[in-house]
Amino acid sequence: MSHSDERRHAEAKLRVEELRSLIEHHRYRYHVLDDPDVSDAEYDDLMGELRALEDAFPELQTPDSPTRTIGGAPAALFAPVEHRARMLSLDNAFTFEELDAWARRVERGVGAGASFACELKIDGVACALTFEAGVLTRAATRGDGRTGEDITANVRTVEGVPRRLRLDDPPSVIEVRGEMYLPVAAFEDLNRRLDESGQRAFANPRNAAAGSLRQKDPRITASRPLRMWVHSFGAAEGVSFDSHLGFLAWAAGAGLPVAPTTEGRGSIEGVKEYLSYWQEHRHDVDWEIDGTVVKVDRTDLQRELGATSNAPRWAIAYKFPPEERTTLLRKIGVHTGRTGKVTPYAVLEPVLVGGVTVTYATLHNEDEVRRKDVRAKDTVIVRRAGDVIPEIVGPVVSKRPKGARRWKMPRTCPSCGTPLVRAPGEVDYRCPNKAGCPDQSVEWLFHFAGRGAMDIEGLGYVTVLALLERGLIADPGDIYVLTAEQLAGLDGFAEKSIANLLSAIEASKERPLWRLLVGLNIRHVGAHVAQVLARAFGSMDALAQASQDEIDAVPEIGPEIAAAVRAWSDEPDNLSLVEKLRASGVRTADERAEAGAKPLEGKTIVLTGGLATLSRDEATALAQKAGARVASGVSKKTDFVVAGESPGSKREKAAQLGVEIVGEEEFLRRLGGS
Ligand code: IVH
Repeated sequence: MSHSDERRHAEAKLRVEELRSLIEHHRYRYHVLDDPDVSDAEYDDLMGELRALEDAFPELQTPDSPTRTIGGAPAALFAPVEHRARMLSLDNAFTFEELDAWARRVERGVGAGASFACELKIDGVACALTFEAGVLTRAATRGDGRTGEDITANVRTVEGVPRRLRLDDPPSVIEVRGEMYLPVAAFEDLNRRLDESGQRAFANPRNAAAGSLRQKDPRITASRPLRMWVHSFGAAEGVSFDSHLGFLAWAAGAGLPVAPTTEGRGSIEGVKEYLSYWQEHRHDVDWEIDGTVVKVDRTDLQRELGATSNAPRWAIAYKFPPEERTTLLRKIGVHTGRTGKVTPYAVLEPVLVGGVTVTYATLHNEDEVRRKDVRAKDTVIVRRAGDVIPEIVGPVVSKRPKGARRWKMPRTCPSCGTPLVRAPGEVDYRCPNKAGCPDQSVEWLFHFAGRGAMDIEGLGYVTVLALLERGLIADPGDIYVLTAEQLAGLDGFAEKSIANLLSAIEASKERPLWRLLVGLNIRHVGAHVAQVLARAFGSMDALAQASQDEIDAVPEIGPEIAAAVRAWSDEPDNLSLVEKLRASGVRTADERAEAGAKPLEGKTIVLTGGLATLSRDEATALAQKAGARVASGVSKKTDFVVAGESPGSKREKAAQLGVEIVGEEEFLRRLGGS
């Protein structure tokens, strides 16, 4: 290999590992927690990138890669069920070119002239129904494709799923597969009810369906109007089908729910007409669809084509592009954040975009609102592209009601009434009333206690708000003088929770300096900058005494940060806060390693999973600075593995090899040399 090839290979390897751990994380959230934090489109992008890299670098392929495995492990709530035949997934095509490429592969495999069954891709929960001698004996989720969860009792409550097939001579065994879903109207209705009773609403119909099926009490499942469409079959004894459409006709005749939207097409051009039609009309059906599925119709050809490790070669999902929807912009609100930055946001008539209900969308700043010229009562286009954050594309000007007025940034803070300021050259307005602005205080205290800063468990938003309202705290220093008697007056606080909170507060006094720096809410000082500063100065005192130039001279610290840090230290209020914290026993200095020491000198470490306070790049840079070599794979030579959130296979490998595994907290401690 040439030098540059070697580098490309090493880079690809790193990225492949990173993609795998990201994908595992998303799969876990999607399949096990029913609570994905990225859109399907974003997930698909990650998978696409991984597949492309594995194609380009075949030596990086592994049998446990997400490209060769399916979905998530079953959640341990219901009894496990071995599927008689594996439940496969589908490969995706996003463009007609990719569809053509698939059709060419099919043609190469079985010759020209195959006809196709075209279906809608139901965005629901895959489910396998086993009928023995015509009687529904078991219903299971897909799980990881081999083992799913037994949800028979719940599925028996689903309308339209027969408990007995309507056949005179039923086959001895037939495993029918399909998608459970919640009709869109029912989903909206359910969310309204959950909302009214103060419960958490579901992000989208798929989650609502999954959540409804995973109820321990089948009566709750029964109260949710779930439906099912059958789309394939697994094990079959005593019956066989010549074609997919033949199977569907048989299923409909047996009383199983079969979507009326499936159609046969004789050519790939015909298939494309079907796809284009449904892309335009996806909201004409009352269930969510995220694409269409094309299947080679004849089962003998299907058998000839076979399957890869996780998907049949005879079928492909054609995914729809990201979604845009229009909705009413009820009003434009403004919010003051913890740094005093005042951000306008749109309050929308709730609308389902790309599978997620959107009610709020940020409008970023005054210039952005002016540029888009969105106004209260406008109909606006909301987009949720391969991104989790919904965005307002702009108004539909033709639908603007008469008299809709241009929006103006308020002159005073919506929370405390202080006149807002916009510094020259900045886009944001700020509320300068740092100490007395209620919104800033809540956000700041919540941030101070949060996981990224002092990590005080039990001091969440609601508690912070209650403490502020009762005048028990005003700044972070007050947290450390709270007493059991004071907490006893709060709703929901009993002896145990009081003791827990007080001990969490006590424990936070020992946090490393960088966490305190993050909590102090200094402009531009996030986790990474805080760690750099903590390492360079070692204590609040040393930092406060440093001149702007000295701060600026620290590698990775630019003039803007240096100025902000210096300005912060010049505020007497800030210094008295540090004094107050110190007086209550909060650590304001790190036990220092020798200057310039490299606490991880000679160590080889591996990072896996997501860290709460650092990006992967930042963690790598800090580890390298501490003298460590950051390797991409675990071997016996690895000194320790840092396992963050959803760590993936590297953690398992480390456990197998007996390599030490440490969490984020410990990693940060080791970086600090203690
Ligand atoms: S056929 C062997 N048809 O999408 C082929 N699947 O992303 C198995 N899905 O695992 C699936 N609508 O749970 C098929 N009309 C349809 C579908 C469909 C939704 C689901 C299914 C599959 C997943 C893949």
